[in-house]
Amino acid sequence: MKAKKILGTILCAAMAITALTGCSAGSGKNKVGVSMPTKDLQRWNQDGDNMKKELEAAGYEVDLQYANNDVATQLSQVENMINSGCKVIVIAAIEGSSLGTALDKAAAKKIPVIAYDRLLMDNANVDYYATFDNYMVGTIQGTYVKDTLDLDNAAGPFNIEFTAGDPGDNNAGFFFNGAYDVLKPYIEAGKLNIVSGQNTFEQVATPSWKTETAQSRAENILSSYYADGTNVDVWLCSNDSTALGVENALAANYNGTYPIITGQDCDIANVKNMLQGKQSMSVFKDTRTLASQVVKMVTQILKGETVEVNDTKTYDNGKKVVPSYLCSPVFADANNYKTILLDSGYYTADQLS
Ligand code: BGC
Repeated sequence: MKAKKILGTILCAAMAITALTGCSAGSGKNKVGVSMPTKDLQRWNQDGDNMKKELEAAGYEVDLQYANNDVATQLSQVENMINSGCKVIVIAAIEGSSLGTALDKAAAKKIPVIAYDRLLMDNANVDYYATFDNYMVGTIQGTYVKDTLDLDNAAGPFNIEFTAGDPGDNNAGFFFNGAYDVLKPYIEAGKLNIVSGQNTFEQVATPSWKTETAQSRAENILSSYYADGTNVDVWLCSNDSTALGVENALAANYNGTYPIITGQDCDIANVKNMLQGKQSMSVFKDTRTLASQVVKMVTQILKGETVEVNDTKTYDNGKKVVPSYLCSPVFADANNYKTILLDSGYYTADQLS
C-alpha cells in the first residue's frame, strides 16, 4: 500500500514536471506545435506530414493538429499547444487576423511563433514567416498566359476571367496582384477583354478557397456572359482548388474553345486534368522544401542561433514587418511534369494514373 502511494507521488511529480517543461515523459525531447488549417485540401496534409516527419527526424516531439477550417478550433488548438509546453509553435492560419489572443499568450510565455505559408496578421507577436514567394506565384501564372497567347505579337483581343482566393488569407492578394500586374498592360490596351467586367480582387475572390464556390461563380459568369457562344480564352485561377471549380463549371456549361486555365499546388486531381488538357499549368511549391526550411528555423531558434531569412521588407502584417524566408515556386505543365513531379519523387506515376 505504502509502496503504491510512493510510486503514485513520483508519477504525479513526473507529470507535473512534464507539464511545466513540455518534455514528454522520459523522452527529454522539445515539443513543437504544428497547427494546420484543414485536411480538406491535399496540400495541407502533405505539409503536415512533411513537417512531422522532418521535425521527428531532427529529434523533436510533434503536436500536429488540423482545425477543420474552423477558426475557433484553430484558436483552441494553439492555446492547448501553449499550455502543454510546446517550445515553438508553427501556424498555417485559416484566417490571418483571428489568432491574436493565442499569439499574445504565446509571447507572454516566451514561445516563439513561426507563420507557415500564410502570414499571421495584425499582431506583433509573430517571430518569423516562411513561405513561397507569393507575388512570384502570380507572376508565373500571368507570364504563362502572356507567353502562351504571345500577347506582345498576337492581334487578339482575347477574353479572360479571373478567379482569386480567400480574402482572409494574406497570400490571396499577392497571387492576384502578381498575375494582374503582368496582364494589366494588355488589359488596358484592349488585347485582353474581361467580359464579365469583374476585375477587382473583391469581385473575383473565393471565400475559403472552396471549389464549390468557385464553381458556382463560374457557372453564373458562363450563363450571364458566354451563353451566346462567346469564347472564354483564359481563366486565370489563383490555385488548384478554385481551378477545379472552374473546370467543373466549364464541363457542364460551356461548348466553346477550351480556355487556358492556371492553377497552383499541383494537386493530384489537377495534374490529372493537366494531362487530359483540362488545365494548362499549375505552380509547383515543393512542400518538402518549405518543411525543411521551417525545421531549420525551429532548430536555429531553440539553439539561440541567428535565424536564416531572405526577406525583411515585403511582409508587413499591420503591426510589424515579419522577417521571412521565401522559397521559390516553379511552373509545371504537361511538358515538364515528369521531371518536376515524378523524378523528384514528389508523386509516383501510379498516383497520377
Ligand atoms: C496557399 C496555397 C493554397 C491556398 C488554399 C494558400 O495560402 O499558399 O498554396 O492553394 O492557400 O489552401
